[in-house]
Amino acid sequence: MRSHADTSSQEGSSDPHRGHAVCLGRGDQMEHDRHALSVGYLLPAKDGRRTGSAGGVPHSRPMSTARSPHLVSRLQGFGTTVFAEVTALARQYDAVNLGQGAPDFDGPDFIKEAAIEAIRRGDNQYCRMFGEPTLNSAIAEHQRRFYDLDYDPDREITVYAGATEAIFATLAALCETGDEVVMFEPFYDSYRACLAMAGARERVVTLEAPSFSYEPETLERAINPRTRAILLNTPHNPTGKVFTRAELEHIAMLCCKHDILAISDEVYEHLVFEGEHVCLASLPGMRDRTIVISSAGKTFSFTGWKIGHTCAPEPITRALRTAHQFVTYCNGTPFQHAIAAGYRADDAYYETFLEEYRERRDRLCRGLARVGFGVLEPAGTYFVLTDIRPLGYQDDVEFCRMLPEKVGVAAIPPSSFYVNKEAGRHLVRWAFCKTLPMIDEAIRRLEGLGS
Ligand SMILES: Cc1ncc(COP(=O)(O)O)c(C=O)c1O
Repeated sequence: MRSHADTSSQEGSSDPHRGHAVCLGRGDQMEHDRHALSVGYLLPAKDGRRTGSAGGVPHSRPMSTARSPHLVSRLQGFGTTVFAEVTALARQYDAVNLGQGAPDFDGPDFIKEAAIEAIRRGDNQYCRMFGEPTLNSAIAEHQRRFYDLDYDPDREITVYAGATEAIFATLAALCETGDEVVMFEPFYDSYRACLAMAGARERVVTLEAPSFSYEPETLERAINPRTRAILLNTPHNPTGKVFTRAELEHIAMLCCKHDILAISDEVYEHLVFEGEHVCLASLPGMRDRTIVISSAGKTFSFTGWKIGHTCAPEPITRALRTAHQFVTYCNGTPFQHAIAAGYRADDAYYETFLEEYRERRDRLCRGLARVGFGVLEPAGTYFVLTDIRPLGYQDDVEFCRMLPEKVGVAAIPPSSFYVNKEAGRHLVRWAFCKTLPMIDEAIRRLEGLGS
């Protein structure tokens, strides 16, 4: 497998803006200027300008001079995420917020009690850099129990400030400037920013709506001698796609054939309604080249605790920890104790968790269909995408900007998760990590869309 030393010989420009993001989809290849693309992260304002937000209040700044003072070139254009603007609009109009993927309910009491107990016991100082021993062990038990994978809790498992830090540490530790990472669009929004911070570049393969499939040949064409890794997310935010075993076997084959790493973001591993979740590391040849990332925030509905982890072979884990120790070093000691209890929960917890989400998914999908959206029912995660064209709308950003004020509901425009923005222009993402009364209220308000 390639090491840092090997990849450095393949370095290209030290200035990432001189490089290109490449989007592969629909059988064609489109080269885009990286800077121009990343500027698209901001929502364009109604007057053609782009907005950022300060102090939670949206404000506009000119699109053509969007260069942010003080900000380094490699982060120019990332600005404020769409979540910040949508959340601000939701607050301003007191909207039901189906935008951000944060549950509007707490996780189970036994985990809360375990955190309170840890605080009372005095487990309140820095913990071990790579995780409280009990949590590392609980994660190892979890990987064995669900995926029949053995990881050494002390040498192969690392705990971070959420999956977000795990993604950052992974890309910062493993990518040389000029390395390429193949990823699918739409993508979780931190991937590109983390790649930019690492000085690496993305090659993008489009998951084509409505099935969110892709041509295997397109994926293989995206790999070249500069490729360091394939970064994927299954179950997939925002499409709800659960990569099939056959797709993952093909990805595994490509990783082995081209001797590249796999970074597998599996934060929704316990939210699979149709099909099965296959942990990429469980496929032949993959344990030694896969970094599995997950998040207790998603599995136990405590997103604010920010506890995430990686499972990776020891030599890779050593590299990840070098980055992690200088970013946060460690995080949330009492919460780590509590999450350990979570990962050790009996089967009933995981089954109930899934069934409750299935009910929320079904309730929201049925309601959105009644309102008139084209519903792309998700096989996993707690998001659903809908086609807005049946209701006469064409543009996701305009739609999501109008929605909080017009009907009092907030949703996310997924074109911001695409390099090839046209592919997502007609879609809108709704989160169903909400109580049933909240989902019902959102649908009631959306029924006023036509008026
Ligand atoms: C695909 C994906 N990866 C990572 C994260 C981040 O997880 P965490 O809250 O643990 O940082 C999220 C959160 O929404 C996500 O959707």
